[in-house]
Amino acid sequence: MVRQPVFQGGNREESGHPLPENSAAASSSSTGGFDSDDKDFDDALRPKRLVDIVGQRKVVERVQIMIDATRKRSEPLGHLLLDGPPGLGKTTLATVIPRELDAEIQITSGPSLAAPKDLLPYLTNASYGSVLFIDEIHRMPPAVEEFIYPAMEDFRVDITLGEGLNARTINMKLQPFTIIGATTRSGMLTAPLRDRFVNVQHLDFYSEEDLTEIVRCNARKLKSDIDDKAAEELACRSRSTPRKANNLLRWARDYATVHDSESRISYDMTAKALEMLEIDRLGLEHRDRRYLETLISVFTGGPAGLQAIGHSMNVPPDTLEDEVEPFLLRCGFIQRTPRGRMITAKGYAHLEIDPPVDNSATEKSPDGSRLF
Ligand SMILES: Nc1ncnc2c1ncn2[C@@H]1O[C@H](COP(=O)(O)OP(=O)(O)OP(=O)(O)O)[C@@H](O)[C@H]1O
Ligand SMILES: [Mg+2]
Repeated sequence: MVRQPVFQGGNREESGHPLPENSAAASSSSTGGFDSDDKDFDDALRPKRLVDIVGQRKVVERVQIMIDATRKRSEPLGHLLLDGPPGLGKTTLATVIPRELDAEIQITSGPSLAAPKDLLPYLTNASYGSVLFIDEIHRMPPAVEEFIYPAMEDFRVDITLGEGLNARTINMKLQPFTIIGATTRSGMLTAPLRDRFVNVQHLDFYSEEDLTEIVRCNARKLKSDIDDKAAEELACRSRSTPRKANNLLRWARDYATVHDSESRISYDMTAKALEMLEIDRLGLEHRDRRYLETLISVFTGGPAGLQAIGHSMNVPPDTLEDEVEPFLLRCGFIQRTPRGRMITAKGYAHLEIDPPVDNSATEKSPDGSRLF
């Protein structure tokens, strides 16, 4: 396993640097040499300091207290767990904190730590007060999790050398350091691991005002002109998620570059760009609408099992469960009942389809499932 590099916080680069001068440098330093376009783009727009983070006011205020207290006492920060849905700023916050503390950061992720030996170099390399960021920490195997317990609690690792009668255990002292874990599924963390995090912060979805601000600010970083109305339109179709907003901004910018002589992201350009992407006014994509339409046309509104819907749509059920259903559930367009998925009246209304006449008294069982 290749260990990702360490960088020193604080004096990397100033916040708000526009593309393209610093994007490559920024991405290779903080992400361990990824050089895909998406990664560069993501990193170029990522806020670098706490003041640049838009929204999440309560979380930011609490993190500011932690940072101030840590600085005042000149002690390492307590272990911090960041949880929340994808694209809301966990990695961003995790990289901002060491910068604010002027501390080193090492970056790894749960799935790449297959065995304790993969984690060991990170622990032994951690300097006093440095940060070890473990992304997707819920995907760490149990053996690694157990190995990390004494490291988090007592700054010590227990290494077993040899086998059988000749086996010996060496206790190795570590420098006091901080683990920042990020997870989209905090429920999958074991209780002992969760309890070892002194601070747990939950990131929530963003308001339209905050997303509009993020779009405006990122358009500036990309040196693109954007109308206020266009920024609002992109924000309201971004599913309350900054990463989505960035991706839509990128698309609108590409579209404007091709179709507008001045490359200005006007409201008209944005509307046409979004229409071409088939993203509707609530942020539903083609596949989301197909899900609802399949539920209506094939399963007469449900209830229907996930597998059956997946087969009808020719999409793996896991993909539907992870990528399509969360947003539809959040919008209140579908329900998950014990008998399967059902479309709601709101879902029908969004598709502008009349719900069937309610003849549940004769055709449905008490739990809402269809008898015929
Ligand atoms: N509060 C914020 N202010 C401005 N931009 C933000 C904010 N939060 C996130 N972003 C933008 O959204 C992008 C995605 O954020 P980030 O990678 O931190 O999400 P994440 O929670 O780590 O997602 P995942 O769970 O998928 O790893 C960042 O590149 C950044 O540009
Ligand atoms: Mg992340």
